[in-house]
Formats: sequence, structure tokens, C-alpha cells
Amino acid sequence: MAFNGKQNKADKELQHQLQESGAIPEHIAIIMDGNGRWAKSKGKARVWGHRKGVRSVRDIVETCGQLGVKYLTLYAFSTENWKRPKDEVSMLMRLLVSSLRQEINSLHDNNVRLAVIGELSKLPKEAQNELLDSIDRTSKNTGLTLTLALSYSGRWDITRAMKRVAMDVRSGKISPEDVSEDTIAQYLSTSEMPDPDLLIRTSGELRISNFLLWQLAYTEIFISDCFWPEFRREKLYDAIRAFQNRERRFGMVSEQLNGTNTRSRKKDDLVNALSSY
Ligand code: FPP
Repeated sequence: MAFNGKQNKADKELQHQLQESGAIPEHIAIIMDGNGRWAKSKGKARVWGHRKGVRSVRDIVETCGQLGVKYLTLYAFSTENWKRPKDEVSMLMRLLVSSLRQEINSLHDNNVRLAVIGELSKLPKEAQNELLDSIDRTSKNTGLTLTLALSYSGRWDITRAMKRVAMDVRSGKISPEDVSEDTIAQYLSTSEMPDPDLLIRTSGELRISNFLLWQLAYTEIFISDCFWPEFRREKLYDAIRAFQNRERRFGMVSEQLNGTNTRSRKKDDLVNALSSY
């Protein structure tokens, strides 16, 4: 099933209002949780919940593209998820391949650029090939960058970055004194994207679950009570509305920020606005 392509007038109006009422987050990251519990609540097998979860992925990707979100990062399979029952893991891998095959044309037609973070070499060969082909095919697109976190964990990312920094120190490419926060950010798998502005987690759980540990330092968090298969665009609008009402202080105090528009502001803009304070 492709993007439905048809957007009704009322939805267009809602999106327009959202764009007028404040900043649209440049980067949204999502922990898609609750497929299994949702299926169970309906008396079905967990895998059925994953299949239905793909529909939410499609709707959220399409909506982010329409709203002008630049980066959407989805936690699709964590390092820890390898410990799940074998049948569920292989079903998830097959679902990934079939969803990519089904969606890649419409992703491409909608100017979406696909990217992956995580230990790709751990995935089955078929999934690796499908991903690499899809990434290659969409590499020149300039719209939404959709990043799938697969066999990913924040600690894996930081460990890998540290190893690479250490190797570059050993070879003399960089000196230990030069290692700064920016250096570390450049060695992470997310070096090509800004940190997330908004993290959404579904199914009411209050955890980061080893997602983008470094990158989420100043991200606004929104927890939705609904399970992932029920998370559709209306819920995303709720999350963005909540984001637009947050005051992003980045460690400063409210009084310092008087006169600057701190609602959903990005850190660099804020630092620039405060340079004359
Ligand atoms: C969490 O629900 C969801 C996952 C581990 C997998 C997410 C995968 C999809 C939505 C489908 C495939 C994705 C793509 C990008 C094609 P859970 O199983 O942890 O639910 P539970 O907490 O209720 O057990």
C-alpha cells in the first residue's frame, strides 16, 4: 500500500494552523512502542500488531513530509530486540523487507531520502541489500530524511564513536586535546543530522530505552498513551502542539530569555539571540 496521496481539506487546514501557531520541529524521533500489547488487547498474535504498525509508519512519514519536518528517525529494531523469540525476530525482518519493497516507489516519488543507523551487518543479507538499494535510489532526494534505527542502541553508537576517536588519536589524525563535544557528535552515526527537537514515545512508557542517548540531551519529550498501531496524524498534531508550548531554555533561566522567542526555539538560534544579553 502506498501513501494515500489524498489529503482532505480539513486536514490541510489543520496542518496550516499548526504551521502558523509555532515552529514545526526540524527533527522528530519516535520510539514506536506497543504493537504487541495492542494485538494482545484484541486477542491477536503480537506479529499482527507489527503488521498494523506499518500503517502508522506510513501515515506519520507522509504527514511529516507534508508539514515540512526535515528529519524523522524511527526506532524500528533495537540491539536488545535480538533477544526476542526467534519467530518474532524473523517476522520483523521479513516485514521490513516487504514494507520497503511496497513503499519505496512512493517514498521516492514523495522526495523522501532514506537512511539507516545501527549495526546493519547484523541484519539478514536480504534486508541489508534491500536497505542499501533503497538508500541508494533515494540518495538525491531533498525532502524528508527518514532514518530507520535498526539493530541500534545509544550505547552501541557511543561505544563505536569512542573506538573511532581512539583509532584516529592513535594514527595521529586528531590529538586528545582537540576532542570536544562537536568532535564526538561527528563520530556518531547521526553526524549528518541535527539533534532531535522532539522525541515521541507511544504506549505510555516513561523510558528512553537506549535510543539516541547523546543526541537527546535537550530534546523535548512527549509521551502518548496510545499504542503505536493507533498513533496516526491527529496524535502527531497533539505532540507538535505540546512542543510549540514548551519553553526551551537549554540550561538557562526564564529571565535571561525575556524578549526572545523561546517557544520551540533551536539551541543555536537562542545562543545567537542571547549574545547581546
Ligand atoms: C515495539 O512494539 C515495536 C517494535 C519492536 C518494532 C516496530 C516495527 C514496526 C512498527 C513495523 C516495521 C517497521 C518498519 C519501519 C517497516 P513492541 O513489540 O515492543 O510492543 P509491546 O511493548 O507491546 O510488546
